[in-house]
Amino acid sequence: MISTNINGISITYRDDGSGLPLIFFHAFPLNQTMWDDQSSELRNHCRVVTLDLRGFGQSSAPPGPYSMDQMAADVRALMSVLDIDKAVLVGLSMGGYIALAFYRNYPEAVRALVLADTRGSADTHEARSRRLRSAEKVETTGSKAIADDMVPLLLGRTTLESRPLIVERVRLMIEANSPQGIAGAQRAMAARRDSTYILAGVDFPVLIVVGSEDTLTPISEAESLRNGIAGARLYIVEGAGHLSNLEQPDEFNSALIRFIGGY
Ligand code: MLT
Repeated sequence: MISTNINGISITYRDDGSGLPLIFFHAFPLNQTMWDDQSSELRNHCRVVTLDLRGFGQSSAPPGPYSMDQMAADVRALMSVLDIDKAVLVGLSMGGYIALAFYRNYPEAVRALVLADTRGSADTHEARSRRLRSAEKVETTGSKAIADDMVPLLLGRTTLESRPLIVERVRLMIEANSPQGIAGAQRAMAARRDSTYILAGVDFPVLIVVGSEDTLTPISEAESLRNGIAGARLYIVEGAGHLSNLEQPDEFNSALIRFIGGY
């Protein structure tokens, strides 16, 4: 992993393979290693950039406030460091919210979008209040408490019942993050803008992916995203929950390789 100074903080990233650049935006409250199974396979087909978003992994977790726009700006600055003008963005859940903020702010830098287990809308009033309570909880009780709350929500039934190593991997990723980073991102998601109105302007290829057992952003959310974007394709990953890429990596990778091979 490499670290660079971006927008006044340290951002840690990996850059492997060559050709068409794909930039992967991780979910909340994880880190870039959630993309390890994508990186090891996709680097044989294209250039793969993953990063720890501010607040997570080995990147800095400065005091808040954070915002989806700031996190998107960090990625845009990283692209300049890496001399990438235009990339395929792959965002899962929070990563999808940030990818949409990126598209709103830097449309000229987007070549195509993969939106996995995410939604275009802002939070409802109830969801926002839940997030603000959760941000306070992590600050007072620590990251382990958030792992206890989130692991059963992030993973699908099949994984929870039969893949203890994946369950452990996700738990460790969450526990390794600082309460300050988790709280900052949680409040940033609570404050995020609605992105549904920008979807109609999308004029590049889009792939929507969702786990068949995702309860946080269920198939109906993926269908409304697909319906809002002309020409978007929808792929359902069977036997996966919200973290479809790490619960069923082979299926997820095949869908991605087919997508980038198609243009
Ligand atoms: C994620 O996986 O990034 C989170 O579930 C996003 C969210 O809480 O909306």
